Amino acid sequence: MLAYRHGFHAGNHADVLKHLVLAEVLAYMNAKPKGWRHVDTHAGAGGYSLLGEQAGKRREFEHGIGRLVARSDLPASVQAYVDLVRRFNGGDALRQYPGSPAIARLLMRPQDQLRLFELHPTDAKILASYLGAEPGVEVRQADGYAALKSVLPPPTRRGVVLIDPPYEIKTDYARALAALRETLTRFAEAVVIVWLPQLQLVESAQLPQRLKAAADAQARRGWLHARLTVARADAQGFGLMGSSVFVANPPHTLHATLAPLLPWLATALAQFDGARGLVERSAAR
Ligand SMILES: C[S@@+](CC[C@H](N)C(=O)[O-])C[C@H]1O[C@@H](n2cnc3c(N)ncnc32)[C@H](O)[C@@H]1O
Repeated sequence: MLAYRHGFHAGNHADVLKHLVLAEVLAYMNAKPKGWRHVDTHAGAGGYSLLGEQAGKRREFEHGIGRLVARSDLPASVQAYVDLVRRFNGGDALRQYPGSPAIARLLMRPQDQLRLFELHPTDAKILASYLGAEPGVEVRQADGYAALKSVLPPPTRRGVVLIDPPYEIKTDYARALAALRETLTRFAEAVVIVWLPQLQLVESAQLPQRLKAAADAQARRGWLHARLTVARADAQGFGLMGSSVFVANPPHTLHATLAPLLPWLATALAQFDGARGLVERSAAR
């Protein structure tokens, strides 16, 4: 059952939050010469047209990346992320949007590696034709949760794991938690980034607490949770109100970067007057 296609949502507020955090983490990893491995369990197609039928259906990018590229007063880390989007477009016109594999590809160095997993046959094919032949990159049409054991720990013991399921089937909530636990069991120093939707669902409300408990038990350097609410649920209680990004073993600079940024992003991406952004972190050890 693979109904979800990320092309309908590319560049929306949730992608902005996730990709901004991913870019910050990988830029931090680049401060040391030793190579890193980035594992993307749910990689998608790698990049998306914003001019085609899928993105054109609801034009979600207009309330995400579209609002940021139009501004000239961006905070430094938002500017760095928008610059990556411009590089992916080869200029200022916003025609396409980079997925997480493209963000990682733009930041990787010759000594770094990408391990990209995508189950949907069409998106896996697009991803393979985009990045499959690049040095240091492996693309597999496979279940990203099951594949984790084959790529962890990386030989350099420097690595980032992005767990970004569609959550269209409820088992994704339990599997994302299990994937965090498995990653930290195999590789306790891993920087693990889990994207979570904000929906009016019990599973969605419970997952942050479960991730925090798992990271409290296993992560060497604690956790951070960045939450961005931009919209109201619809009258039936459906719809994405916002999203959050949970990071186990965050870079020590990440909290200071994100704490002022989340309220700024909430104002920049607000779709109602209750928009808010905040960052929580684990107690000091
Ligand atoms: C939210 S999208 C990924 C977006 C991508 N990480 C990005 O930020 O550009 C989720 C993707 O996971 C894929 N998918 C669903 N279940 C999967 C699984 N068990 N293993 C690998 N990919 C899966 C879907 O086909 C979809 O392309």
